[in-house]
Amino acid sequence: MYKIAVIGTGYVGLTAAIGLANFGSTVLGLDIDAAKIELLKQGKMPIYEPGMQDLLDKNVAERRLVFSQDIESGIRWADIIFIGVGSPQGEDGRADLTALYNVAEIIGRNLDGYVIVVTKSTVPVGTNEKIYEIINEYNQGNFEFDVVSNPEFLREGKAMYDFLHPDRVVIGTKNPRPVEALKKIYRPLYLNEVPFIFTDLPTAEMIKYASNCFLAAKVAFINEMARVCDSVGANVQTVALTMGRDGRIGPKFLHPGPGYGGSCFPKDTQALAAIARDHNIATPLVDSTIQSNVFHKEYIVQKVVEAFDGKISGKRIAVLGLAFKAETDDIREASSLTIINRLLNQDAAVCVYDPQAMDNARQIWSDVIEYAGNEYEAIKGADGVVLLTEWNQFRNLDVAAMLDLMADKKFFDFRNIYQRNEVEALGAEYYGIGT
Ligand SMILES: NC(=O)c1ccc[n+]([C@@H]2O[C@H](COP(=O)([O-])OP(=O)(O)OC[C@H]3O[C@@H](n4cnc5c(N)ncnc54)[C@H](O)[C@@H]3O)[C@@H](O)[C@H]2O)c1
Repeated sequence: MYKIAVIGTGYVGLTAAIGLANFGSTVLGLDIDAAKIELLKQGKMPIYEPGMQDLLDKNVAERRLVFSQDIESGIRWADIIFIGVGSPQGEDGRADLTALYNVAEIIGRNLDGYVIVVTKSTVPVGTNEKIYEIINEYNQGNFEFDVVSNPEFLREGKAMYDFLHPDRVVIGTKNPRPVEALKKIYRPLYLNEVPFIFTDLPTAEMIKYASNCFLAAKVAFINEMARVCDSVGANVQTVALTMGRDGRIGPKFLHPGPGYGGSCFPKDTQALAAIARDHNIATPLVDSTIQSNVFHKEYIVQKVVEAFDGKISGKRIAVLGLAFKAETDDIREASSLTIINRLLNQDAAVCVYDPQAMDNARQIWSDVIEYAGNEYEAIKGADGVVLLTEWNQFRNLDVAAMLDLMADKKFFDFRNIYQRNEVEALGAEYYGIGT
């Protein structure tokens, strides 16, 4: 079996490390973040992902998975090196590839025999070629190596499930040499007839951006329809549901909400637009997706402010849900950031509750906002409740009890979970998105 090093143990790297170990390889998870590696060595999860702790425990117990901060030794030990470090938004919307290029240099310096380098991070077209060049530049012993693009499509909140049950696996290579090894480490998927797409490096890199931009556009589109529905008195829930019944459209990613967020759609749409700009290609659809989503977040803020006749100063607002979606603790680019910051700018008092994202929130807002121990504690004394994340426990609120706790009964249900007539019958003002 292969010895695999995974560099970067964030949402993607950690999932890949656990998943590949579960498929039977011996895996070493590596990271520069000492605190993260220390937690993992103690068998603790640095992030919240359903189902991940059990598989971490299992694979560590079965001695297929260990963690270390010693990246150089890990590189020399491995037959296959996965790169899962971040590619955050940099200048002009371009992906910041510093971490990837640092890793490529360290790999080059520590090469001591043939190795396959597999990029899981989302990177612009040409990056894997550049990774190849950097490794080669520092490859003093002239050892052979290959670079593979194997983009990741997992959804946060379902990361482990998606890694173990992908819709497809994309393998981009320059030559066929690494293909057999990749088929072996993904053998359970290959045997299960998961489609494998073997292609070249630029196509593999492009598939990931095209997929994320399309999904972002779908979300932005239905949010745009919701804004129109708000004005014309139509119900976007029925519109979306009926559109989704059309096989050519499909129901997924047609859920109106407070705007897309997370660590992928915002930065990947920006990065694709930047890639296109660099090649003098206009991407009006991608550009408008980005604009539409920015606009949508401001529209949501306006809805809250206007409900208070433009005077939000001194009002107490409870925010339920901070994560950009349910089942994750990730608040990167979440709508909660825009909305809470806008409310604070207008001197509202904000009290928040999220089942998993409270620690991440404290790092952003410190003592500028209040942190409640549960949803009802957050709601107590509030003039408005803003529901932002579709956590299951927020789908079953005791609305009557909630309204009893409130000073002013304005309920902003920005996931369209509740029925307007039912909430209004209890004496509240109800604000949905396009309903
Ligand atoms: N999060 C997702 O849902 C998702 C899905 C598909 C693809 N991706 C892509 O995967 C990549 C990683 O995303 P993520 O969400 O896992 O990021 P993350 O921020 O959660 O994790 C990145 C990890 O890399 C580590 N790291 C940074 N520089 C390093 C270095 N030089 N050496 C070793 N470790 C280093 C960090 O400490 C961190 O633990 C990005 O390119 C992202 O676009 C993310």
